[in-house]
Amino acid sequence: MAISTRLALLGGTTSWADCGVGLRYLASFGTLTRGPAIAEYERAFARAIGVRFAYSFAAGRVGLYGLLGAFGVGSGDEVLLQAPTHIVVANAIRYAGASPVFVDCRLDSLTIDLEQAERRITPRSRVLLVQHTFGIPVEMDAVLDLARRHRLVVIEDCVHSLGARYAGRPLGSFGDAAFFSTEETKTISTTMGGMVVTDDARVAQRLAAFQAACAWPRASLTARYLLKLIVYHLLTQPRLHSYSRWLYERIGRRQPLPRPTSSQELQGLKPARYEQRMSNAQAALALRQLRRLKPNLRHRAAIAEIYARALAESGVRSPAVPPLGTPAFVRYPVWVRDRAAAVTAASPHTVLGTWFTSVLEEATSPQAGGYVSGSCPRAELAASHLVNLPTHLRVQPGHAQTIAASLAGFV
Ligand SMILES: Cc1ncc(COP(=O)(O)O)c(C=O)c1O
Repeated sequence: MAISTRLALLGGTTSWADCGVGLRYLASFGTLTRGPAIAEYERAFARAIGVRFAYSFAAGRVGLYGLLGAFGVGSGDEVLLQAPTHIVVANAIRYAGASPVFVDCRLDSLTIDLEQAERRITPRSRVLLVQHTFGIPVEMDAVLDLARRHRLVVIEDCVHSLGARYAGRPLGSFGDAAFFSTEETKTISTTMGGMVVTDDARVAQRLAAFQAACAWPRASLTARYLLKLIVYHLLTQPRLHSYSRWLYERIGRRQPLPRPTSSQELQGLKPARYEQRMSNAQAALALRQLRRLKPNLRHRAAIAEIYARALAESGVRSPAVPPLGTPAFVRYPVWVRDRAAAVTAASPHTVLGTWFTSVLEEATSPQAGGYVSGSCPRAELAASHLVNLPTHLRVQPGHAQTIAASLAGFV
């Protein structure tokens, strides 16, 4: 099937009705930042994950930072985490005063190599942070066993994996705590946003105190987030996206809408006003999308299945999912020989994702996040060979076939 349209990597999780709700909040400034949707969203999120407590924040990274504080993790402590990850994850650990200890990933699942994690444990190790990369579940039985043997706190990075399961239970309910993101490229979008969940009442109490100490976002920032959600909903329409993407690539970092990561964060530095809450208007938009999560996940699973089958014809193996795992692909990862050529080949049909372009995505240099060059060779290799394909609600089965076919010569 020829695509007369170009798919965006993001978008496709919001609806015109969401945009209408966004506009209503923009028109009624009184409930833009504070209001009842926050508590309602937190209750619904906790229920969806099957835990007792959930606290919203301005971004997933802020939630992780709050969590480390809630577990008393700070100076002298080590946090084990996989590479590749995003620079803001390493930042949250370093801002808390602790040291990130990078563990290589497995090439088949792109999740943490637990054998190597065990070898990197020292008397200072306090936390094992497991990232369900691209929505592929980490084998949680093995994680919990390792953590029990070494008395480590388990934090799940569920930023890519909202709705994924292990042994039939939602990810985020296995560790001592977990954090999620509703940043614009994730399974549901509030432009920026984060959530932390836990079943531990003591941790919850400390998180509540951290949330209460966080600043409310300025009304002007919330308004810009809503405006961005609406503008992106429009500009990522497949029929418009060839033009809007062209414009976006020309304007680059000069574009006036708020960016997910500040230039200080890209350098590993802590920006001003980092500790912030999520606004009421964003919570209302998240809640609407959370209520549509099931069809969203069903769609992503169906599209991922098409990619898997079509790519299998070119000899590509699907990402390895543990026997008890049910993935929820925020994007579908594919290993290619020549990434630049693959991006060009797919470009008439879709913008191809390039997470991860570095062992610490977006960092000015991996060293800015405490990474030592050469310490995770598989992650370094992945950072030059991975592309990822959209799975969102605007991707139709015919699109998925065409995109997979365009990559056949590169995998
Ligand atoms: C694996 C992973 N963890 C955490 C984050 C941070 O989430 P947020 O942007 O909500 O702070 C990201 C950001 O993309 C990510 O890719």
